[in-house]
Amino acid sequence: MTKIFLLVLLAVVCTSHVLGAEDDLYVNITILESATAQGGVCLNGSPPAYHLHRGHGTGLRSWIIHLDGGGWCNSISDCLNRSATFLGSTKMMYQQGFFAGILHNTSKHNPEFHNWNRVRVKYCDGSSFIGDVEQVHPENKLYFRGARIFTAIMDDLRSKGMKNAENAILTGISAGGLATILNCNKFKC
Ligand SMILES: *[C@@H]1O[C@H](CO)[C@@H](O)[C@H](O)[C@H]1NC(C)=O
Ligand SMILES: *[C@@H]1O[C@H](CO)[C@@H](O)[C@H](O)[C@H]1NC(C)=O
Ligand SMILES: *[C@@H]1O[C@H](CO)[C@@H](O)[C@H](O)[C@H]1NC(C)=O
Repeated sequence: MTKIFLLVLLAVVCTSHVLGAEDDLYVNITILESATAQGGVCLNGSPPAYHLHRGHGTGLRSWIIHLDGGGWCNSISDCLNRSATFLGSTKMMYQQGFFAGILHNTSKHNPEFHNWNRVRVKYCDGSSFIGDVEQVHPENKLYFRGARIFTAIMDDLRSKGMKNAENAILTGISAGGLATILNCNKFKC
């Protein structure tokens, strides 16, 4: 997992600079309202989100799941501040996600995975998709539910076809790279 993460990081950094504007790919956000039923919510209690670009042809049954990064918040004050940004609230997220490198959909920019199902999971829990605290912080109404976000989004992707996957790669950058290691045992198709 560590090796995959490092490769991915380099691939994204190296190829994003050579993309011409005409090749830029932006994918609309999917807000997973249903995740709130199982308590899978961002720091501020809003539903989690991802961007999915469907695969086709020989990539129809292959999936690459990329977990976004963004460091951790490490105190209530820090997490409270974060809960009002795109790293803690769905409301503050861009509606479109930039897909470059291993997320791009042309063989020119992404020879290996261009026709796979490609997913960018938004990072909004502040701790690499591992928090699972039932209690909501009494004063600040903060939620630490990253593990439930991971479960809810993977369940949703399974229902959208990942359950029939022949190949699936879990990858991520920075705090999302760490999240791939921490959540690897839970990742299944
Ligand atoms: C993406 O969202 C925009 C704005 O809501 C919409 O106009 C467009 O049709 C959507 N694109 C796709 C591929 O769904
Ligand atoms: C949170 O934001 C407030 C107001 O801008 C600031 O005073 C405080 O230092 C911030 N807390 C952290 C941990 O950055
Ligand atoms: C890549 O995706 C864009 C947006 O969905 C689409 O217009 C374009 O045709 C796709 N290119 C290939 C090679 O599939």
